[in-house]
Amino acid sequence: MQLDGRTALITGGASGIGWATAKAMAREGAKIAIADIDRDKIEQRVTELGGASYGIVADVGDLREIDRMIHAVVSNFGQLDVIVNNAGVTRRCAFMDIDEELWDWVHRVNAKGVFFCLQRAAREMIPRRRGTVINIASIAGRGYPGTSNAAYAASKGAVISLTMQAARALAKHNITVNAICPGVTRTELAQSIMDLRAEKEGVPMAEIEAQAAQGIPIGRMNEPEDIAAMAVFLASDGARNITGQSFNVDGGLIMM
Ligand SMILES: NC(=O)c1ccc[n+]([C@@H]2O[C@H](COP(=O)([O-])OP(=O)(O)OC[C@H]3O[C@@H](n4cnc5c(N)ncnc54)[C@H](O)[C@@H]3O)[C@@H](O)[C@H]2O)c1
Repeated sequence: MQLDGRTALITGGASGIGWATAKAMAREGAKIAIADIDRDKIEQRVTELGGASYGIVADVGDLREIDRMIHAVVSNFGQLDVIVNNAGVTRRCAFMDIDEELWDWVHRVNAKGVFFCLQRAAREMIPRRRGTVINIASIAGRGYPGTSNAAYAASKGAVISLTMQAARALAKHNITVNAICPGVTRTELAQSIMDLRAEKEGVPMAEIEAQAAQGIPIGRMNEPEDIAAMAVFLASDGARNITGQSFNVDGGLIMM
């Protein structure tokens, strides 16, 4: 197993991409901690995972909660080897309708949350001279025209650029930092955006989904497992010399 003996913390791990990543990493032998704001779902997920898995309710937009989360994970497992900064929020909004409230809501979790989770996790990894940070960005941060809104795209651009800065700062401690940029991925978040589009445009859901798949060169949307597979690789020994990179997993939507 590729992740035997490692411990991995996945933020936003109770649904979608985070949950698929938790399951995939557990299958590869990692001990899993799931952090999320959804208490009921965490309990359900920890029961499903079984074994040594651990759940913690934490809001990654709040620095005190980040500190409590990392402290709890290290107290429980004795170490932290991998953090997947996956928690993220958005909703569909036209460019001219973006207001301060939407901007702050999105950036608090997607940009500030990712930075301070990774910085706090690095404080545990540096003394051990090992660690893997995986940030879940988006092709929205690379100019994808179908983004939910411009504030979200900017928050994901921030994740891509702080991945490079963190990789530079932490390389001397043998810590790798990479990002994954998912394309359109079948999760609750994507579903809520497509539902709203179907309602606004009066188009059946099946047509919205078909349109989404049609625009993708490979001809299909991602399943959350497609992102999880890349996360497992980035956490494995095979990726030990890869750092500062952002990888698109999007069926060819954005080729850069
Ligand atoms: N689904 C897509 O098409 C898509 C595409 C590109 C990028 N992404 C990114 O992938 C990541 C996961 O998205 P998803 O589609 O699985 O979403 P999702 O809504 O299915 O799951 C997100 C999880 O994060 C949790 N969460 C939200 N705010 C939180 C907070 N403040 N603290 C802790 N947990 C919080 C939610 O409770 C939920 O369990 C996000 O960063 C998203 O931006 C998704």
